[in-house]
Amino acid sequence: MPAELVCFEPKCRARFPVTEVIYNCPRCGGLLEADYPDWKLDAVQVKSVWRARRACNLPLDQSGVWRYREIIPFLDNLDSVVTIREGNTPLLPAPGAAEYGGLDKLIFKHQGFNPTGSFKDNGMTAGVAQARRLGMRRVACVSTGNTSASMAAYASAAGIEPLIFIPHGNISYGKLAQALEYGARTFQVEANFDQILALVRVLAERQGIYLLNSINPFRIEGQKTIIVEMLDQRDWSVPDWIVLPGGNLGNTSAFGKALRELKQLGFINKMPRLAVIQAEGAAPFYELFHASSRDHLNAVPHPETLATAIKIGDPISWPKALHEVTASVGTVEKVREQEIADAKAIVGRCGIGCEPASAATLAGIRKLTAAGVIRRDADVVAVLTGNVLKDPDYIYRYHTGKLEAPDGEPIRPTFGNQPIVVPNDPEKIAAFL
Ligand code: F0G
Repeated sequence: MPAELVCFEPKCRARFPVTEVIYNCPRCGGLLEADYPDWKLDAVQVKSVWRARRACNLPLDQSGVWRYREIIPFLDNLDSVVTIREGNTPLLPAPGAAEYGGLDKLIFKHQGFNPTGSFKDNGMTAGVAQARRLGMRRVACVSTGNTSASMAAYASAAGIEPLIFIPHGNISYGKLAQALEYGARTFQVEANFDQILALVRVLAERQGIYLLNSINPFRIEGQKTIIVEMLDQRDWSVPDWIVLPGGNLGNTSAFGKALRELKQLGFINKMPRLAVIQAEGAAPFYELFHASSRDHLNAVPHPETLATAIKIGDPISWPKALHEVTASVGTVEKVREQEIADAKAIVGRCGIGCEPASAATLAGIRKLTAAGVIRRDADVVAVLTGNVLKDPDYIYRYHTGKLEAPDGEPIRPTFGNQPIVVPNDPEKIAAFL
């Protein structure tokens, strides 16, 4: 079945070949998405094929993305695919986090178990496969850290040169270190994420470099499999709510598209509701969602949050995300720095751990249950997007009472856990025990 690119704008819906190197509709400038005309799958049969592949040792079947290749059929063949065993991320019940969030029960889908430690790997294996199919020799992205770490790994594994642009001084060392280690040429630009994205788009066009930001529709295809795998792991029982953090809103777009398609193809018979959580200092999507008119997103010119992964003021995928959240009868919430920090410590105390942006989910759940939007007995899956080790500096500062919000306000170590300095003396250490 041939894939196409289609303009997301309802008034345009122009179609283009899937091999055209475009990121926006050449006619109207709208976002693009992959589309599969006359798409039909036998849901019962495909579900059993997917389950059987889990027991197969072929690399593509071991991949938690390509195992589900029938749901992302944009390639003519799979020769261009490079896998480093992305996906395969666990569902983790977290009673302590449930209690904190005001729920009877809460399950985390932990994308931090991916090879480079974030959900970006699900999308990057797909984006890099498309880059290879198109014969691209160089790929680029602007990133708050995780996209760059992931792109560096997948491009290098595929023999393509990775070029990374990051806001100088505004990404965590864990993520920067990954980009360097995976061999990417890394440019630290004196500008914020939104400004650098505009810059990189010009450069990519001029220099024939393939852009792998989440505006790239094939990355979105890969990220759909986060939802497919989660439902497969739940034996296709659909939760009431899926909660995720929102930055550039690519993941929200991917989740919504996956759910729409799974419903249309007969894999599920109801839609879960999507709840997107933003950090208060970088919450343009929250403002849009709760505004009287949702026609236009007002960008936040100077976004601020310690959850640097979601420090984005002008999210590129907002039209898609708005459509998906609305279609799912979902909602958008925002949370303060203190709330993110405390929620993160709670996720840690469950023995799970995550990076700051991921913890926005639990902070958001706590607010949404308190407001009666999510019921205490609801079946909720929260997506933890990044690994705990992505930002160790934040963790150390929180537990030692040294963490400050961007406006200089101290963050209280509500669940702080100071290391204790002791002499080399068993008696004195015993006194602490
Ligand atoms: N959580 C983490 C850990 C992220 O790295 C990101 C995005 C998000 C949530 C938000 O996802 O953009 O799809 O809404 N990080 C990007 C990056 C922007 O460059 O790594 P989104």
